[in-house]
Amino acid sequence: MKIYIVKDEKELSRKAANIISAQVIMKPEANLGLATGTSPIGTYAQLIEWYNKGDLDFSEVRSYNLDEYVGLPADHEQSYAWFMHHYLFDHVNIKPENIHIPNGMELDAEVACTTYDRLLEESGGIDLQLLGLGVNGHIGFNEPGDAFEKTTHKVKLTESTRQANARLFKEDESVPEYAYSMGIKSIMQARKILLIANGENKAEAVKKALFGPVTPEVPASILQLHNQVTVIVDEAAGRLIKDLV
Ligand code: GLP
Repeated sequence: MKIYIVKDEKELSRKAANIISAQVIMKPEANLGLATGTSPIGTYAQLIEWYNKGDLDFSEVRSYNLDEYVGLPADHEQSYAWFMHHYLFDHVNIKPENIHIPNGMELDAEVACTTYDRLLEESGGIDLQLLGLGVNGHIGFNEPGDAFEKTTHKVKLTESTRQANARLFKEDESVPEYAYSMGIKSIMQARKILLIANGENKAEAVKKALFGPVTPEVPASILQLHNQVTVIVDEAAGRLIKDLV
């Protein structure tokens, strides 16, 4: 595991975007596993900037997103489909048919999850999986629990996750109770993983994930068992690990 503690979110975004660009340049038809949340926004903005300069081409890239809220249509501003279009897809030349996101409007969980797993299987594997980190150590929407969920599954979001994500919803909207999330096995099967986290409120989760015991109570701790993980955190999120790296 390679861990970088960088000065701030700007530096983090630049470094993360560099790694994603390198992947796309080396393999133009790369399968990218993508994440939502505030953490990757700067990274996506940097990728867009380089795309506009002509340095990046997404025409052959395939994307697979980690998760989606159950019950939110793709045009709902809080859906992860909307997020991805707004912060990345609408600004680069990725082909619409190459974009994959769990279908939050498929209310039959069995159908939604097996369909997504089939797509992942048929993809030939994710080359680079970008991950953010929940304050409770979740990745995707794999919440702390008694066991690691292997494949795409329906998740009942924890209160702490719903509260953390409430800031992105309007006052009269409530955070959905359920989401579909790629499973831990699918995430771990990615050839390379890039985990990013910034801000003081992630410091505890960063320490537990990277240096604590590997346990489903801290879903991100499983990443310690993957041999191609790069972690980029800013100084605030890396506060509790700076003497350990
Ligand atoms: C959300 C997403 C995760 C994301 C995490 C952190 O719940 N499902 O994929 O990594 O929370 O979000 P943020 O980057 O906004 O802190």
